[in-house]
Amino acid sequence: MYCCNRRGAVKGIVGFVILFNACQLCYFVSRSWPLSGRAPEPTIQSTGFSFHQGKPWPAIPSFRPWLADPELAPLSSCEAYFGNGFTRVYSLLEFEKEKADDQLGPGSFQCHFSETLQTSICEGKQVVMNPQNITMTKGGESLESVVHRSEEDELPTYSEGAFQIISEHKTSGKLVDQEMLDNFMPGGQVRPHRIRMLLESMQVIQKSEAVCSEIAGPTLFVTRYEYANLFHTVTDWYSAYASSRVIGLKQRPRVVLLDGHCKSALEDGWEVLFSGVEYAKHFSGSVCFEHAIFAPLGYNTALFEALGSSLPCQGCSVTELEEKFDSSKTARLREFGEVFTAAFDVPNFLPDGAHQNESGKRELKLLFIRRENYMAHPRHSGKLEVRLSNEEELLTALQKWSADMSKDSNEAFNLIVVNGLFAHMTLAEQIRAVQASSIIIGAHGAGLTHIIFSKPGTVVFEMLSPLYMRPHYRFISQWLGSDYHYLVTRGSSVNCSQVVASLSMIVPDLVKQTDMIV
Ligand SMILES: *[C@@H]1O[C@H](CO)[C@@H](O)[C@H](O)[C@H]1NC(C)=O
Ligand SMILES: *[C@@H]1O[C@H](CO)[C@@H](O)[C@H](O)[C@H]1NC(C)=O
Ligand SMILES: *[C@@H]1O[C@H](CO)[C@@H](O)[C@H](O)[C@H]1NC(C)=O
Repeated sequence: MYCCNRRGAVKGIVGFVILFNACQLCYFVSRSWPLSGRAPEPTIQSTGFSFHQGKPWPAIPSFRPWLADPELAPLSSCEAYFGNGFTRVYSLLEFEKEKADDQLGPGSFQCHFSETLQTSICEGKQVVMNPQNITMTKGGESLESVVHRSEEDELPTYSEGAFQIISEHKTSGKLVDQEMLDNFMPGGQVRPHRIRMLLESMQVIQKSEAVCSEIAGPTLFVTRYEYANLFHTVTDWYSAYASSRVIGLKQRPRVVLLDGHCKSALEDGWEVLFSGVEYAKHFSGSVCFEHAIFAPLGYNTALFEALGSSLPCQGCSVTELEEKFDSSKTARLREFGEVFTAAFDVPNFLPDGAHQNESGKRELKLLFIRRENYMAHPRHSGKLEVRLSNEEELLTALQKWSADMSKDSNEAFNLIVVNGLFAHMTLAEQIRAVQASSIIIGAHGAGLTHIIFSKPGTVVFEMLSPLYMRPHYRFISQWLGSDYHYLVTRGSSVNCSQVVASLSMIVPDLVKQTDMIV
């Protein structure tokens, strides 16, 4: 798996070179903390953090409430993995419910523990962040300005009091000790575990000690490791989304990145999915967050954890679950995909049959997700390790096959091959291409994680090298309920006529299915 050897993690990394770093200076609005003597203006560089009003959640077909009910999410159920298994609450500080809406009272802190995922979503009210006591690079720089920077420098270390919580009652001191942390934030495989480190450094202080400016509303803190790789970034997005739902946020939160990575093209996803995003080190002084939520590491999400287990979760539609609840089925990954595509404003595509062109033929799109060489992050050479050496040949073969089919007047549809040069497309363009497709084909690589954003009924076709028989996309297809096919390559090249032959068998079934939809 990717996680255990951080230095070796360049394998299979997919990311994008950003040629510019649009850094705008912008002062963000904040009101001063009422009880402090002096409230220094925190200034941050960048945009997107200046409004108090969060974005509403998009309305999506597959949404189901994220109830914290142990009966709905027994230990190894799909709901415990993908939904709300965070049912055991550890109150660390004078937790009081606010009468009105069941939310945390001021100056309190608690963690929601998932026994299944062995991690917690923690939240606090009136949490102070002191960026000067967090050691890491600034983050958000252009890639070429930080080439060779070490990953260790980009990840945070916290000195005592980097985070504080303002209490009205409890005497000052450490919030939580190691022994207590073992209960709800075990380090597990990831060492050092940065969220555990953060909690270890957390102090309780008195109101009179707080000098900071406040940011109202919910703010989600996220620590990213492999930020330039789509698979790992999706695990981070999923964690952030699940945390927002488990906590019951009525609007999409702002995000503060607790890492110092440079800018990547995937950063757009954070902007679009949430109500603004900012790097922790871009705040110039102490900031008080009215409501701080700490999302688990991507490594602790089902998407990552369940790769190693043989979790028998089958993706299904939400209607199916509503009709009959089944703990071995899930619609959560689809729900996440829908929220994501809706956030990008990608219209819900009509079934394929509904797209007819002038000749009266229907159109099916086959998206070929390409793997290109490019520099993904500061430690990367710009060369992919696993690559299909004859991608161009395969593209030509697919185009010829589709052209022959289109000429055949007996065929009731046209197959359009889309050349998915994703390294040259924005995230929004990529998601549009994915949503428009009925078949997604590609060599094993993080780019295939895009299948999460595909529409129901999409066929996935993966080309696997015998040296890298990894299960990621087979499992993800299963959790989505998508139809998965694969072909093992010979060495680094694939037999094009075999790919075409396999697809020729798949297409008639697909056409039949879309016939039923129309
Ligand atoms: C936190 O940072 C401030 C400003 O640099 C410094 O004065 C203080 O000593 C730091 N606290 C700790 C515990 O390192
Ligand atoms: C309809 O499909 C045919 C066959 O692929 C193609 O030649 C034609 O340009 C298409 N028409 C439109 C309007 O897309
Ligand atoms: C590709 O596969 C076909 C059918 O299995 C086979 O006849 C052909 O020899 C293969 N081509 C190569 C280059 O291996």
